[in-house]
Amino acid sequence: MEEQLIGIKNTALSFILEAKTLHELEETKLQFLGRSGTLTLAFKDLVKLPMEKRKEVGMLANEVKTAIEEALEQKQLQFLGNQKKEQAKKIDVTEPGEKPSLGHLHLITQAIEEITTIFEGIGFQRVRYPEIEWDWYAFEALNFPESHPARDDWETFFVDEDTDPKMGPVILTPHTSSGQVREMINVVKSHSAEEKIQIKMLNIAKCYRRQSDVSHTQMFHQFEGLVVGKNIAITHLKGTLDYFVKSYFGEKRKARIRPYHFQFTEPSFEVDVSCGVCLGKGCKLCKAGWLEMGGAGMVHPNVLKAGGIDPKKYTGFAFGWGVERVLMMKDDIEIDDLRLLYSNNLAFLEQF
Ligand code: PHE
Repeated sequence: MEEQLIGIKNTALSFILEAKTLHELEETKLQFLGRSGTLTLAFKDLVKLPMEKRKEVGMLANEVKTAIEEALEQKQLQFLGNQKKEQAKKIDVTEPGEKPSLGHLHLITQAIEEITTIFEGIGFQRVRYPEIEWDWYAFEALNFPESHPARDDWETFFVDEDTDPKMGPVILTPHTSSGQVREMINVVKSHSAEEKIQIKMLNIAKCYRRQSDVSHTQMFHQFEGLVVGKNIAITHLKGTLDYFVKSYFGEKRKARIRPYHFQFTEPSFEVDVSCGVCLGKGCKLCKAGWLEMGGAGMVHPNVLKAGGIDPKKYTGFAFGWGVERVLMMKDDIEIDDLRLLYSNNLAFLEQF
């Protein structure tokens, strides 16, 4: 009986191994495990054995059965896998294709790249300075005495860190002007005493202020220009503004400067751009023909001093504008709520 069982096992396994189709496999299964299959019949014969042998031979019969079942299952999986591969090979070339969806750079990243290219064209160099900043770089070094009321205009976030005796508290930088003195210190450090100091910095970075409504987000971007050298005058500032406005907004748009006040520039200006709809005549959108773009001015002597530059020898100009704001002022883009830019809303973002 034992020999018979081993024989059944060996034949069954070799049949399974050689089966060429699912159908052949099915037949082998019937032949051994079907109602009148060889192994099924052998199980029936077990009762004929004397009691003491029955248990032992019964166990062997079960082992044979499991071995055959497992081999059948494996071979079946192999056939099914091949079938799938065959199906995958058949491509219907007449079916319309599926377009892979393509992403693109965020609207603000696109604007930053465009602004960078424009300023690089006239020799500015892009730099980046910390977003988590010392109060000293953002205010103190920019000629804001401690607790000066003008600081309130930069609704600043404070970081829960120890205050430094010289640097003051840690803040989230509320404007890119914090990079001005950092840049001056860096440039002065890398200059020999005889070399002329020349700075043409473009600092584009995230800024943070405690504000949130349709035209403000707590996190936004500014681009800051700083030029320092011998005999730098307001005409250089005005020329740079005109160049940017024409390159970014188009030939028909104009820039103008109005007197204003900033602690870190003297004189200070607010820069306006002629409205893209009425081109300066006045309309519903702009009211008086001009749209406000941001601040600018001649670098205050105290700021040059904080950066280690002698204000008797050098002068400079600076400007700082919002990336989101200039983007909204391009005539072909209308965004009702600035907060949409950072909402991760694909339906909105995919339009650009
Ligand atoms: N930092 C100013 C602001 O955030 C803008 C500015 C930059 C003004 C440089 C003058 C010079 O509004």
